[in-house]
Amino acid sequence: MVNSKNQKEESQVSLAQFVYPFIRPHILTIVFSVIAMSIYALTTSAYAYLAGPILKMLLWKDSNPFQENQWFGENFLEKLFDVQSLSQISLFVVIILVLSVIRSIAQSLEAYFVGKAGQNIQMDIRNAFGESILGTLPLGLLKARKGDMVTRLIADINMMEMAITHAAASILRDGLQTIFLCCLLFYLNPVVSLIAIVVLPAGTLVVYAIAKKIRRAFKQAFDKRGYVASVFMEVARGLPVIKIFSAEQKIIDKLKSANMLLRNQMIKGITLQALSYPVIEIITTVAFLMLVVISWNQSKEACDNPERLISFFATVLLLMRPVKSLGSLVSFLQQGIAATRRVQAMFVLQKDVSPGALKPSPLQQEITLKDVCFSYEGREILSGVNLVLRRGEITALVGESGAGKTTLIELICGFLRAASGNIFWDGMEYEKFDTVSLRERISLVPQEPFLINASIEENILLGRNESFRKNLDWAVNASGLQSLLKKLPDGLKTSVEEEGSSLSTGEKQRICIARALISDCDLVIFDEAASSLDSRAEDAIQETIEKIKGQKTILIVSHRLSTINFAQRVFVLAGGKIVETGTCGELSKQGTEFYKLFRSQIER
Ligand SMILES: Nc1ncnc2c1ncn2[C@@H]1O[C@H](COP(=O)(O)OP(=O)(O)O)[C@@H](O)[C@H]1O
Ligand SMILES: [Mg+2]
Repeated sequence: MVNSKNQKEESQVSLAQFVYPFIRPHILTIVFSVIAMSIYALTTSAYAYLAGPILKMLLWKDSNPFQENQWFGENFLEKLFDVQSLSQISLFVVIILVLSVIRSIAQSLEAYFVGKAGQNIQMDIRNAFGESILGTLPLGLLKARKGDMVTRLIADINMMEMAITHAAASILRDGLQTIFLCCLLFYLNPVVSLIAIVVLPAGTLVVYAIAKKIRRAFKQAFDKRGYVASVFMEVARGLPVIKIFSAEQKIIDKLKSANMLLRNQMIKGITLQALSYPVIEIITTVAFLMLVVISWNQSKEACDNPERLISFFATVLLLMRPVKSLGSLVSFLQQGIAATRRVQAMFVLQKDVSPGALKPSPLQQEITLKDVCFSYEGREILSGVNLVLRRGEITALVGESGAGKTTLIELICGFLRAASGNIFWDGMEYEKFDTVSLRERISLVPQEPFLINASIEENILLGRNESFRKNLDWAVNASGLQSLLKKLPDGLKTSVEEEGSSLSTGEKQRICIARALISDCDLVIFDEAASSLDSRAEDAIQETIEKIKGQKTILIVSHRLSTINFAQRVFVLAGGKIVETGTCGELSKQGTEFYKLFRSQIER
């Protein structure tokens, strides 16, 4: 119990700490809007102040409404305008017009500065969001659904910013108005005003009581919104599969039920929020009525001083709007807090920074895995793997699907951290290195080819230093890309649209291979890179490997005997351990795990 309370307080503190850095750079813009808001608030008080004298003038045709009650000591209005030369009515026309011009300029400046600060804040949060995701171990992101992530990026950040600016604007504008009007009220009738000053904050507390429920409801609703987005993403990606298996109805049902969940949860939040409005309305009205009744009984002097009484009531009436607005803010803010928590969750993923600061030197000897263990959610995938990749050698890693080959590669690339055991680069533990420098020494051709929306050339040079451009021709050659480039009029400058949807998987894979070869890295890993290539293309991979043999250390994962045949050493992964090691020839004997895996290809 104590623990959960502590945790809650901690997370509340961290929410403010999380939001503040995004607001800080835009303080100046916010200050400008505060100035505009203050002017706006002051004009509201001025209207209230003027209500009495105006009505008095209209009703009694008073000769000079300001002379009898010099409320501000000296008659400042009389000083400000040459009252004698103006008729009473034109004086009012001028005052009201001037006030209204000031008020409208202040209002539009406020809207501009608040909007500008809001957009700046949104942009900064989105940038930080992107940086945070890229600085994260992929492990955390694999779990996050892509559609949900996009909703966090767009909808939740938008909601978060709206809450920040809306809250800042409302607290400042309505808060300032309330303060000014309360001061005026106090000046006009100090005793009665004390009641307002006590009752109104008490009312806000009542609203706060339902605020927590509202927040929880909206948090769940926003989670559902993420789920709906991910279902839509599924539809967009899987259209051919959905169509060929006539699964349209099933998918539509899934979409509908996801949408229904979202709708229900949103309505729950909206209902709770709607419930808070009458509460605010009733509290404000009760406070107002109390003021009226008490001042009614108290005001014997009313007849002597009618404009004072009118000003007092005008002030009370004007006070109701900002007070209600502040009350509704409490419940509106809950949506912002719910959205902020979802955005914040993407900032606390496990950070992808290796503790060390060393830069690995080019590989001299070997990369060694010693007793490496790794689990996914308690399920052990690797349980004590020992493996050596010698410099300049070709090593093959084989095993059934799901044996953990890709996981092993992700550990070598520093995407995942071993639960126990260690990986050594020339005898030095991985922890001692800075992950980024370590990855500069490693290239990977992943199982799924990945291209960005840019030219083929940019895709090949992705993230690498410009100085490697000199290797471009060689990499294109070695990866067998020439035949594709010949077909394209713009060659290397051809742009790849929509992650390469106009290219075949094999063509995409060759671009990925060229990318892996362009830098002067030491280790090149092919994770089933040939599996999406036809057999002639597979020959090209073998040629590639032949070309870089000796220059680079190579690790291949493949299900084809002909590719594995190139390897000087083969490791067989089964049951989370390396169960056999040797050359292809040595392992191709009956009874070995290797033989079982490649039986059909060996016996051919
Ligand atoms: N992100 C993940 N979360 C949970 N389990 C995972 C994850 N990635 C892979 N696995 C599981 O780990 C096992 C090994 O996967 P993988 O290394 O991809 O196998 P291989 O590449 O040998 O086919 C599989 O059983 C797979 O289901
Ligand atoms: Mg794999």
